[in-house]
Amino acid sequence: MNPRPIGIFDSGIGGTTIWREIHRLLPWEDTLYLADSKNAPYGERSKEEILRLSIKNTEFLLGKGCKLIVVACNTATTNAISYLRNNYKVPFIGIEPAIKPAALNSKSKKVGILATKGTLASELFHYTAENHANGITVLECIGTGLVPLIEAGKLGSPDTRALLYRLLGPMLEEGIDYLVLGCTHYPYLIPALREILPADVVILDSGLAVARQTETVLRQNGLLNSLHSPVAHGFYTNADVGILRYFLNDIKVDYTAEFLEF
Ligand code: SIN
Repeated sequence: MNPRPIGIFDSGIGGTTIWREIHRLLPWEDTLYLADSKNAPYGERSKEEILRLSIKNTEFLLGKGCKLIVVACNTATTNAISYLRNNYKVPFIGIEPAIKPAALNSKSKKVGILATKGTLASELFHYTAENHANGITVLECIGTGLVPLIEAGKLGSPDTRALLYRLLGPMLEEGIDYLVLGCTHYPYLIPALREILPADVVILDSGLAVARQTETVLRQNGLLNSLHSPVAHGFYTNADVGILRYFLNDIKVDYTAEFLEF
C-alpha cells in the first residue's frame, strides 16, 4: 500500500491523454501532472536539451514525493528514459509507439507512423521498428507543426485539417491500413483524423498499454495504493492554465490546476 502520487510529465498537454487512461485503470491513485508547455515542442529540440528538460521535470516530480514517473511524451521517452532509469531510484514508465500491434494486424503490410522528428530520429524508435515490424513497410511522417496547433487548442481548425491532409497524403497513397500515433498530443486529433482517413484505416495510440504497464510496475514494486480512499489530482503548467483547463474540461473528478514558474 503506497498513497504517494504517480508523477506524469510531458512537453505540454499531450500527456493528459495518458493521464486519462491511467486514471481510468487506477482510479484510487493520486496523480501529479506537469505540463512543460513553455518548452514545447520537444520534438524539434536536440537530444541534450530533451535530456536536460526531462531531468528538470523528473526532479520537480520527485520533490513532490512521486513514487513512480510516467514519461508521457514519446520524444522524451526515446531520448531520455535510459538516463532517467539509470540515475534515479523510482520506476519510470515510457511511451512506445504501438508499432507491434499494427504490424501484427496489418493486412496491407503497410503501416504509417506519425511522430515528431526527435522520436523518429531516435535509436529506441529504430530498434522498436526493426524488431517488431519484420516484413512490414513502416512509412514515417514527421508531424511538424502539429504540436503547437494542439497546444493552442486548435484541434479541428482549418489550419490543422489542411496540415493533416498535407502530412498524411503520401502514406495514404501508399495504402496504409494502420496509422500509429507516436506522440501523446496526437490522440486529441482523432476526430479530425477520422474525417480525413478512409474508414478502414485503424488509428492506434499507446494510452491503454501505458496505463496497463503502470499498473503492472506498481504491483511488482509493492507501490499500488490499496486504500481506495478519496484521491487528489494536481496539474501544473508553466504556460496558460486556461488552455490546460480546456483540455481537462470533461474530466469528472476534482483537480487543481496551477501556473508554475518553471
Ligand atoms: C513534442 O513536444 O514535440 C511532442 C511530444 C511527444 O513526442 O509526445
